[in-house]
Amino acid sequence: MSAQATGTIAVFGATGQQGGAVVDALLDHRAQVRALVRNPQSDRAQALAARGVELAATRADDPASLAAALATVEGFYFMTPEANSLEEVEAEVRIGKALVDAAVEAGVPHVVFNSVFGADRESGVPHHDSKHRIEEHLRTSGLRASMVRPTAFMENFASVMAPSLEHGEIVLRMPLSEDVALKMISIRDIGRVAAALLLDTAQAPGGAVELVGDELTGPRIAAAFGAHAGLPARYEALPLSVLPNELDQAMFRQFAEAAAHPSDLAVVRSIEPTALDLVEWIRATGWTAPANAAGS
Ligand SMILES: NC(=O)c1ccc[n+]([C@@H]2O[C@H](COP(=O)([O-])OP(=O)(O)OC[C@H]3O[C@@H](n4cnc5c(N)ncnc54)[C@H](OP(=O)(O)O)[C@@H]3O)[C@@H](O)[C@H]2O)c1
Repeated sequence: MSAQATGTIAVFGATGQQGGAVVDALLDHRAQVRALVRNPQSDRAQALAARGVELAATRADDPASLAAALATVEGFYFMTPEANSLEEVEAEVRIGKALVDAAVEAGVPHVVFNSVFGADRESGVPHHDSKHRIEEHLRTSGLRASMVRPTAFMENFASVMAPSLEHGEIVLRMPLSEDVALKMISIRDIGRVAAALLLDTAQAPGGAVELVGDELTGPRIAAAFGAHAGLPARYEALPLSVLPNELDQAMFRQFAEAAAHPSDLAVVRSIEPTALDLVEWIRATGWTAPANAAGS
């Protein structure tokens, strides 16, 4: 591990997946970390405190609490919470803008925003356009800013997009046609890249970096899981209508559009040389084939 930060780095979302990975990477570099949390007594906040993370109780709708938590920090990372409705999208934008305004108020030297792929422009995906609006707010704030723009989390294959085992075969289903390559990144690597930017051991070319560790079609993703399990595998493309809401449908249309523009995988590896591709992620996480689906 390289440079050690001289000052405190503030993290919003530290009790969550991406912010948690940023904290892991910062602690690996022996940085001082201050987590902005809603509830310092929560189990997740207390687990951070046990690892030496300072807790600052903040509320996104209380600008004074945010500015106080950002006073004297050397860098600030923030993500914005998941939005599943247009109402939540507006709440997401409010939180993001409030965090930027607080960073301006506190005079934070460098802000890293955990945005999303394609957020350099409007895409018509409500919970991506929210991040575009926050990026614009940050860009015009006068702050030194870097954007990290993650693609789909590989961890989705351990949860919402987990392959199943049916009649001795690994089966992966996604609402994505079989010739579309899905861009993806491990959450660990989101944290590592964001930490490198915060610690100034790397810079985002042009102020933003698309976070992609691999891009594979559904059949190739299924094959990777099958090969690891030593089992045959197949992919089934589902219709968009299986998705619970219009936001997710718009996002999967955007995955297909994004696939038309192959990514430069070398950019992430120039910042984090050990960034995982899917096969490495499967191995690193110790993924094992699920139990046979009921009735199969
Ligand atoms: N899933 C994907 O493949 C993917 C890909 C790219 C981008 N994204 C984006 O990633 C984001 C979700 O990131 P994640 O998975 O890291 O989130 P997460 O694990 O759900 O964590 C959310 C964090 O935000 C905090 N939080 C939530 N609501 C808050 C509020 N109202 N005020 C203050 N803090 C609040 C939570 O703190 P508490 O402990 O207080 O709850 C927690 O630390 C979404 O914006 C999504 O669009 C997702």
